[in-house]
Amino acid sequence: MTSDKTIDKQLPSTRTTELDSICLKAEVIPVLAIQRIEDAVPLARALYEGGLTVLEITLRTECALEAIRRINEALPHASIGVGTVLTPAQYRQAEEVGADFVVTPGTTEALYRYGVTSPVPMLPGVATVSELMTGWQYGYRRFKFFPAEASGGIKALKSFAGPIPEARFCPTGGIGINNAEDYLALKNVMCVGGSWLTPKSLVDAEDWDAIRSLAREAAERFHH
Ligand code: 3PG
Repeated sequence: MTSDKTIDKQLPSTRTTELDSICLKAEVIPVLAIQRIEDAVPLARALYEGGLTVLEITLRTECALEAIRRINEALPHASIGVGTVLTPAQYRQAEEVGADFVVTPGTTEALYRYGVTSPVPMLPGVATVSELMTGWQYGYRRFKFFPAEASGGIKALKSFAGPIPEARFCPTGGIGINNAEDYLALKNVMCVGGSWLTPKSLVDAEDWDAIRSLAREAAERFHH
């Protein structure tokens, strides 16, 4: 058994710095589930050109890994988070396709342990103080709060700040243009994530101009 102290030491504080430098570029992180590989680059480009330069691309679809490869090549300056990572095996796939960071919807001991050793930082998903405490023991300081609205939303985040005021969150799940600002006003929120920037109807219609406008609206409204 590794002691808590050893675990803490294993996670260099630069991970927090790395995650901060990514998240500070982005008040808003679009969450993408790419269904058709041919949509990958135009969709990511529309968001990027609209001013949202940090994207979470989920491993929820068959073409996700290939989509990430192509987006990385087409938009080398975008920061790509690989999302919906459920296992260390998927974490390794994310490393292989050049993820800048990994996002998980929830956490397991296996993921927490793997993330400590990986060169790619992880934003672990938590919904409760207990999950947060476990991550804290491993040295994690930045978290995704998921599913945000269903897990108590703003009230929960304010409550987290009581016992663990140093933790910072990217709430995701049920966030949109109308409530993003309220989340961003919290001291322990560094950015918010969501799928509202990529409505299925616009993606299906390949209306990249409309998606660029949505991205621009969010980028301008929530600019740091
Ligand atoms: C995620 O995995 O982060 C969510 O699916 C995004 O949540 P939303 O669709 O409610 O924005």
